[in-house]
Formats: sequence, C-alpha cells, structure tokens
Amino acid sequence: MDKKTDYQRYTVTSALPYANGPIHIGHLAGVYIPADIYVRFLRMNGADVIFIGGSDEHGVPITIKALQQGVTPQDIVDRYHGIIKKSFEDFGISFDIYSRTSNKVHHETASAFFRKMYEAGQFIEKVSQQYFDEETGHFLADRYITGTCPHCGYDKAYGDQCEKCGTSLNATDLIHPKSVLSGNQPILKETRHWFLPLDQYEPWLREWIIEGHKDDWKPNVYGQCKSWIDQGLQPRAVTRDLDWGVKVPIEGADGKVLYVWFDAPIGYISATRELTPDWEKYWKDKQTKLVHFIGKDNIVFHCIIFPAMLKGEGTFIMPDNVPANEFLNLEGEKISTSRNWAVWLHEYLEDFPDKQDVLRYVLTSAAPETKDNDFTWKDFQARNNSELVAILGNFINRTMVLTHKYFEGKVPVVDLFNESDSVVLEEMRQIPVRISISLHSYRFREGLSEMMNLARLGNKYLTDNEPWKLFSTNPARVGTILNLSLQICALLTITGEPFLPFSMKKVRQILNLPLFSWEDASKLDWLKPGHQLNPPELLFEKIEDPAIEAQVTKLIKTKEANEAAQLNLTVKPAKEVIQYEDFIKMDIRSGTILEAVKVPRTDKLLKLKIDTGLDQRIVVSGIAGFFKPEGIIGKRVCILMNLAPRILKGIESQGMILMAENPDGTLFFVTPDDGAINGADIK
Ligand code: MF3
Ligand code: ZN
Repeated sequence: MDKKTDYQRYTVTSALPYANGPIHIGHLAGVYIPADIYVRFLRMNGADVIFIGGSDEHGVPITIKALQQGVTPQDIVDRYHGIIKKSFEDFGISFDIYSRTSNKVHHETASAFFRKMYEAGQFIEKVSQQYFDEETGHFLADRYITGTCPHCGYDKAYGDQCEKCGTSLNATDLIHPKSVLSGNQPILKETRHWFLPLDQYEPWLREWIIEGHKDDWKPNVYGQCKSWIDQGLQPRAVTRDLDWGVKVPIEGADGKVLYVWFDAPIGYISATRELTPDWEKYWKDKQTKLVHFIGKDNIVFHCIIFPAMLKGEGTFIMPDNVPANEFLNLEGEKISTSRNWAVWLHEYLEDFPDKQDVLRYVLTSAAPETKDNDFTWKDFQARNNSELVAILGNFINRTMVLTHKYFEGKVPVVDLFNESDSVVLEEMRQIPVRISISLHSYRFREGLSEMMNLARLGNKYLTDNEPWKLFSTNPARVGTILNLSLQICALLTITGEPFLPFSMKKVRQILNLPLFSWEDASKLDWLKPGHQLNPPELLFEKIEDPAIEAQVTKLIKTKEANEAAQLNLTVKPAKEVIQYEDFIKMDIRSGTILEAVKVPRTDKLLKLKIDTGLDQRIVVSGIAGFFKPEGIIGKRVCILMNLAPRILKGIESQGMILMAENPDGTLFFVTPDDGAINGADIK
C-alpha cells in the first residue's frame, strides 16, 4: 500500500477527556500540547485544518461519582466540562470546537451510526448471564460490584479488578459479591447485548495496519496493534445495561445504552457536525488526512475498534496516523486522579499565573514520545531558568536593548555580510526546514529543540561578535550584527509560534511585526531598515527555589494524606452490635507487669506475672515478637480477669492483656493513665 502524501485538508482530533475530574499535566503532555503544536503549525502553512476536542461524558465512573456525591450524572459532567474547557482555553489549546457527548447533536449522530450498522446486520446478538440487583432493579456494571478478591482476599475488590493486588477479574470471580447500589448480594440474570464482530475485520486490519502502516506509525502504536491482532480478535459488546448514555436506538432495548467506547469516538464526528454544515468533507473525502492524538491507553480503541466501526458503517475515511504518546510520571510515580497525585492545570495557573508557555515548554521538552517520562519540579525550574530565561529570553532581550541603545530602536541597515554571517544565514535557512520535517513526523521534542537551537545560534553570534566593543570604532559593523540578530528574533516568532504562542505574541508586539506564515520563514528579511521597534519587555523570569519548594511540599502532603487514607482503608470493619449487658460481663482491671520471661521453645509467647490489685497472677501472652521481656517489666496494662483459664505450653494462663493491633499486625499496649491504681475497674 502506497503511503498517501498529497492531502488537501486535515481533521485533527484529540482524545475526549472523561468529565469526571479536572485536567492534569499528563493529559497536556501526552495529547493536547502535541496536537496543538501540530495544528498551529498546519494553520501557519495555510492548511485547511479542523482541530476537534470535547468532553467524554458517559461511562460508569461518572455514574458512580454521581451516586457517591448524591447528585445526577449530568451535574457531574456539567461541573467538570466547565473546568476542563477553561483549562484548555487558559493554556492556549486552540480547538476549533470543544464539544461534549451529552449534547443533542451527539446523541443523534451516535444513534444514527449505530442504527445504520444494525440495519445492515453488522452486529451479532448474544444473551448472557449478568449480575442484577433485585432491590433496585438494575443490571450491575463491573464497577458496581465489590467483593472479596479470590487471589489476595482483599474485601473491596471491584468486579473488573482488585486494586490491592492488581489482578484483573470477572465479576463472577468475586467471593461474596455485593451490589454497590443496595449492599445486597446480586443474582445472575439473563440479558441481551449487541456485539461488534471484530474477528470478521481481522483480514482487513492486517492489511491496513500490519502491512500498510509498518513504516509510518510509531513503533509503540504499531507494536500494540500487531500484538492485539496476532492474539486473535473477539467480538466486543457495544451495548450496556445502564441508564446514563446514548439509548440503544432499537425496539426492545429499554434500559440499554451504547457502550461509552462506542459513542465517545463518534463524538469527534458529532463535534464536526456542530462546527460546520460542511462536515462531511472532513470525514468522508479521501483527500482529508485524519489524525488522532491520544495517550497509549487509548490505542486499541482508536486503531482497531473505532476503525472497524468506521469501516462497518461504510462511508468514512480511516485515520492516516495515530501518534499516541506513552505516559508522563510525576516525581517518579504514576500520575493518579484518585490518589490526587497530579499537577492540576487550574491549580498550576493559580500558583504560576501567566506562565502557560513555561509549562508548554517543559512538557514538550519532556514529552513521553517514545517512552514514559518523568516530570519533576527541579527539572521544571532548570528548564525555565537555564533555557527559557538564559537562552531564548536573554537573546531577544540583549538584541532589543542593544538596538535601543545604539540605534534608537530602529532596525539598522546591513553594511556587508562577512563569512561568519553567511554561516548564520545558512543555518537560518535550514532550521525551519528541519522543524517542518520534525513536526510533520510528530517529533515535537525534536522540533522544539531545533527552535531553541536558533536562539542558541543568536546568543553565540552576539557573544562571538561583541557588538558592544565595536560601536565606537565600527558602527556600520554593529548595524549589520544587530540587523542579523533582529532577523533571528523575527524568525523565532515564526518557528516558536506553534510551541510558545503566548510569548511569541509578545515578541511580535516588541518587534512590531504581524504573524507570518510558515512559508515566510524562508524570507530572511522580515525587518526592513528603519522599522521602529517597541521597548523590550520581560519574556521569562527566573523561578526561585521557594516557589519550587512550595510545589514539592504540596506533593509530600498529598503523599502523607494518601498513606493515612491507605491505613484507614484497611482498618477492620466494625463488629456486630452488642448490648451493655454483654459488655459488663467482662471484668477488666488495670494492673502492672511484675515479671516477664520467654516461654521456652516458642517464638511468640511471654509468661507474665501481673499485679491485678486483687492478686498476682500468671498470664501467657503472644507478644514476644514485639517486646523483649526485660523491656516491659513495670509496664501498666489492662487485664481481662474473668476469661476462662487456658493451658498454654503447660502453663495456666489466667486472663488476657489488652493490646491494640494495627492493620499491619504491629502490637501496642493499652495503658491506663497514671492515677488508676492496680485493680481499678475498667468499664
Ligand atoms: N475518555 C477517554 C479517556 O480519557 C478517551 C476517549 S477518546 C474518544 O481515556 F475517542 F473516545 F473520544
Ligand atoms: Zn487481590
């Protein structure tokens, strides 16, 4: 299959984030910044391009969150759709439309899509047994069932996964399954669903991906697809028993909705319909290049399932590429919404207002393009201070200051280019070409580093030529040097625009220039002699240690809170209710340990002699793993006196010492306060 190159227009999509939480740096680095760089670059090339985004508002996690908070799913998605949309605007993600899947256009589009496939006989129907909550009358999605993990015994495992040991489960594997809705044990009941027979698409997928995209898809993407296909594809259910989502648009399917991964990618199409009446050419014309920006957990859906749907429907084009990224970690640990281990965009902007480009820069330089990558606050600071400030900002600022100093802020004339100037000019011709190649191949880090090389070139040029030493003797040469330096600044406004749109807008204001097209990058004389420049303005500022320490401290606090929560989680559940009469049957007294010795030939047992106030008696206690005998003599304890005596290792134990046991099994004495005499009654 020949690779098509001569496209007339572009449809660029970015994964629709779930509207059940705000957006963090992992989303931005993996999907939205690369997509935005690509689209800004295409627009500068004069391309006909649409950039599609929106919120994914269906699915079980959203209904669960609503249930937990006692609100409707619509309330949840309204809240997060607003927050997410604003974060994208704040960071300059330049969508042509940011839509949402709970809206009417989407429900209509997804219904029509399903119905067309259904009527063409593209689904298979299957009846299976599924858990059902008799009290509430609901079939239970996997996340609506908890129970004991058959592998590790954790008693809050979900129907699809145990979060303690990580095993993926089937709901029917759980021991003592419980419905999240009522707390009751669910029953198994028959239900009917529609399946997309992926196995039937296998030959076509092999030809299209395995043969057709071996060389142009990223190795991580291609590899995942190949391994899915090689393992053999199975029919996938595309409907669910749920009351939140796009209703299954056929007779007798009450209480059923489309599976969220069936409706969400259709959201790209719905959003395009909402954007323009001319939407079909962006989805059906073979001259359109369709590109999906996603994270690696979305690969199978965008490379196999959605294409199979598009193929089945029959009138749509296929994606030309799916440049999925790996994951971004935060300070060495996986970003996690539920554990609040993330840098949230709305919080970042509170702490660093007007530093959108710094984050865009750092996340592009550290983008997880070929492998997982790590975001650290130290690296953030270093890249700001030693790259944005010291290289890019410094070069533009020096050039402006010198031009204002020697030429009253007017672009000086070129006297004569010498050989070293020609070398610089040649680089200026090459760099945009190289950036262009990088960006067309989805290598955004590489493109950014080429752009920074241009600023490095400028800095070196000024340093090598030292115009500040020449002005008294050779002002004409200084004019040439500054003219060339200013042209580099102008070229930076072109090549830097896709990456750092906020800062480049400022530079254009300073240089008094419009936004040029990418084609203009080859001009080399954007600033004509005599052109008046505006006063310089600070582009980037140093970020000092305290600001970084504050961020690190915030993360440490999060970690501590998580650890505490983790302990809480595993604390034993409450026991059954008892009556006061049950409690007062126990004769518990305060006492003092008089003697302690290890019981021979055991690891765990200590023989204690206790002064109970009434008598001195022997208690055998299983605490030797935690306490040395000599360390506990004199310790004040609580003793259960009227426990029937027991013989342990030949010794009669007359009572029991009260101990507190942590979830990890560590033991602590329960000690009466000073003042409680031996024999004081505990009640
Ligand atoms: N909501 C999904 C996620 O966050 C992505 C959906 S992408 C779409 O993983 F194609 F389905 F829209
Ligand atoms: Zn487990």
